[in-house]
Amino acid sequence: MKEFVYEKPGGVEVIKRIEKDMPKSEPRKVIVKASFGSVNHVDIWGRMDLPGQPFPRVFGSDLSGYIDDPSDSIFKKGDKVVLYPMKFCGFCKNCLAGYENSCFYRAIYGVHVDGFFAEYVSVEAKNVLKLPENVSLEYAAALPVAYTTAYHGLINRSKSEPGSTLLILGGSGGAGVAALQIAKAVGLRVITTTSYDWKAEMLKKLGADEVLKPDDKLLENIFKLTDNNGVDAVFDALGGSYTSLALKAVRKGGRVINMAMTTGSEIQLNLRQIYANNLDLQGVYLGTRKDLSDLLNMVSQGKIKPLIDSVFPIDDVDKAQLRMEKRNHIGKILLKF
Ligand SMILES: NC(=O)c1ccc[n+]([C@@H]2O[C@H](COP(=O)([O-])OP(=O)(O)OC[C@H]3O[C@@H](n4cnc5c(N)ncnc54)[C@H](OP(=O)(O)O)[C@@H]3O)[C@@H](O)[C@H]2O)c1
Ligand SMILES: [Zn+2]
Repeated sequence: MKEFVYEKPGGVEVIKRIEKDMPKSEPRKVIVKASFGSVNHVDIWGRMDLPGQPFPRVFGSDLSGYIDDPSDSIFKKGDKVVLYPMKFCGFCKNCLAGYENSCFYRAIYGVHVDGFFAEYVSVEAKNVLKLPENVSLEYAAALPVAYTTAYHGLINRSKSEPGSTLLILGGSGGAGVAALQIAKAVGLRVITTTSYDWKAEMLKKLGADEVLKPDDKLLENIFKLTDNNGVDAVFDALGGSYTSLALKAVRKGGRVINMAMTTGSEIQLNLRQIYANNLDLQGVYLGTRKDLSDLLNMVSQGKIKPLIDSVFPIDDVDKAQLRMEKRNHIGKILLKF
């Protein structure tokens, strides 16, 4: 069978397709035959020479497919499944509370340990979720990283009141579109952002109430749209100077949910701005298994229809990553095995 590895840190040229023996059956693990994967920006960060990213390494964090060997699990051969992308212990204080994304021993598959982009994957049965009958393998592959993180930030960790106004920074990416769709499904007013007119049109079709450019008029335009009060909450999928802007764009008593550092990982923070305005600043790192399960139900009930930008054969995963790096996409890029 073939699997896809990053040979060493670098550009897409470090992606190698290698032949491997089929994984062997093991207790507490199942073997999944891959159907669809999807590209996340973390796949691109994952090619960089950052601490905690071993090389060579199988990459890929989002995967759906069929159970090929259920071993001693509750699954049956042929079950349609999706994989939860966080390796977790199941026994630490946070796992027992249902927060596997804060497991004391966590690692992201594909980033910190070997990931999922192989024709057959051996994975812990506790990382496998069965799909509702009417949820497609394509939609399922779009959910684990981008949608689950947005769901965790907007629904699990915070109370997003219907009718309240959410600003999304980085609104056209996988996570940004996920946040828009989840926010509209629970009745929020959404102001979102993109630099491109064609993406703005798409975001309006998906239900965005307002779409702004992330330019030097952004803060002024946000205040114009909120009677000078600021938004109730920000979903910050950009980081850097945009996080500083988010802290100014939010109303007194509001909330900034940061989940990215696309445009920078360090900011200057005036603590008075946080405490004197009763602000909540939340960090969000993936989501929980329950978040992913809730999302599968939302897709099953037709409340969310993941936005699929394009589908590439897995052999063209380099082209798919370049499409993302060049910002030519909106929503999720899928990979077909
Ligand atoms: N915390 C977590 O667990 C978690 C989970 C998922 C993702 N993330 C992170 O969240 C970020 C988004 O991930 P993704 O997979 O959704 O990526 P993506 O699909 O590539 O989305 C990129 C988004 O960022 C915007 N953008 C990129 N560079 C920009 C710049 N220089 N100035 C302004 N806007 C810019 C793009 O806007 P345009 O419309 O203008 O192109 C687009 O909306 C990544 O940094 C990723 O690592 C974190
Ligand atoms: Zn744990």
